[in-house]
Amino acid sequence: MTDLLYVNGGTPLQGTISVRGAKNFVSKAMVASLLGESPSVLRNVPQIRDVGVVSGLLELHGVGVKYDPEAGVLDLDPSDVEAAHVADIDAHAGSSRIPILFCGPLLHRLGEAFIPDLGGCRIGDRPIDYHLEILRQFGAVVDKRPNGIHLRAPRRLQGTKISLPYPSVGATEQLLLTAVRAEGITELTGAATEPEIMDLIAVLQKMGAIISVDTDRVIKIEGVDRLDGYSHTALGDRIEAASWASAALATGGDVTIKGATQPEMMTFLNTFRKVGGQFDVQEDGIRFWHPGGDLRSIVLETDVHPGFMTDWQQPLVVALTQATGLSIVHETVYENRFGFTEALRQMGATIQVYKECLGGGACRFGARNFHHSAVVSGPTPLEAADIEVPDLRGGFSHLIAALAAKGTSTVRGISLIDRGYEAFQDKLVALGADVARG
Ligand code: EPU
Repeated sequence: MTDLLYVNGGTPLQGTISVRGAKNFVSKAMVASLLGESPSVLRNVPQIRDVGVVSGLLELHGVGVKYDPEAGVLDLDPSDVEAAHVADIDAHAGSSRIPILFCGPLLHRLGEAFIPDLGGCRIGDRPIDYHLEILRQFGAVVDKRPNGIHLRAPRRLQGTKISLPYPSVGATEQLLLTAVRAEGITELTGAATEPEIMDLIAVLQKMGAIISVDTDRVIKIEGVDRLDGYSHTALGDRIEAASWASAALATGGDVTIKGATQPEMMTFLNTFRKVGGQFDVQEDGIRFWHPGGDLRSIVLETDVHPGFMTDWQQPLVVALTQATGLSIVHETVYENRFGFTEALRQMGATIQVYKECLGGGACRFGARNFHHSAVVSGPTPLEAADIEVPDLRGGFSHLIAALAAKGTSTVRGISLIDRGYEAFQDKLVALGADVARG
């Protein structure tokens, strides 16, 4: 099977699909199992490539991993944690950004850690300076080597006071995974408070941690000497749910997403309604549909939670190409997340990107030469094209565009989408899409 998908677009997506646990929580909960003295059980785990990558890394460190994809149950046994061989870890280099989160747990368990060069999506520089500064403040010694970063803890890591310059999701998780077993109290100001982070805190509390989330992005952790395993059901994937909802809107369809939950998607739901989409929150999911008539243009700014997620931006922009008037989108989380619009332009969309901060307040990317604002003028019919998947969410957006376009598109590099969208081709077929693997 080659890495491309033929998409014969123009048919509204219709039907019911399910989403399981959030990619951006499940991988972190898997890392947390390293901190326990006893086995953990994680449920609602989707069969996506990132789960495979983290499983592989855990196994390299001696963790027993058993996954039942049908049931979505992952058993993690950390009784025999050991240092992995650098060459083995290095083989995983470039496949994910999760390895950086192994640092705290490994420093606690083994006194040292090695982190290969990190991968992840090409949506900006994605530095790890906050992570390394946090680890240093806990007392870790950080040594940058040509193939990665070596860290060691000369003595037990010590609780500390840290203020983040930006509420980074990964840095907040780094701090949590390190502080829970450090000696003394840690206080973080400027923390990210995404639902996936709250679910990680719930997991750590089940393991024996003492963590309080105060007002104004302050999190306090009292370090403990021992943590045990956990048993937990992962929260649903609100990014995957919003992606399918955007696909329903862009194709004029009607899709019910089982496993989509309202509290974590409130901001998306408000925006979806403002654009002219309709939704109905049901007992076990949310139905999203295009009611017919014109969609409305909007002004949108991405932000950290509880704002409009950056990961929702790319799929929704495709639907905005079908809205009447000028939509303005200001991306404030990543400096370079509009690369995917080039393919949309090729397909007939009218989208201009700007370096200025448009449609909101000034952000940290203003006056720094980053194309981080976009103006979408619609509605524009989309035509089939030959396109290449640039990154995970941008790739799904390309898929949506191909589904909405007239004719047969060729979407290349499609396996990148397997990183975060479980069985997306089966789901497309279930929704009536005309697709075939090349
Ligand atoms: N940042 C720094 N220095 C750091 C860390 C982050 O400058 O040391 C900057 C980043 O460059 C970025 C901003 O802070 O501009 C936010 O990055 P953050 O650390 O919050 O992102 P992340 O933890 O690397 C996670 C998700 C992303 C999601 C973001 C924001 C995972 C594995 N990834 O990334 O998900 O976009 O939070 O919500 O959890 C995706 O799923 O497609 C994806 C990219």
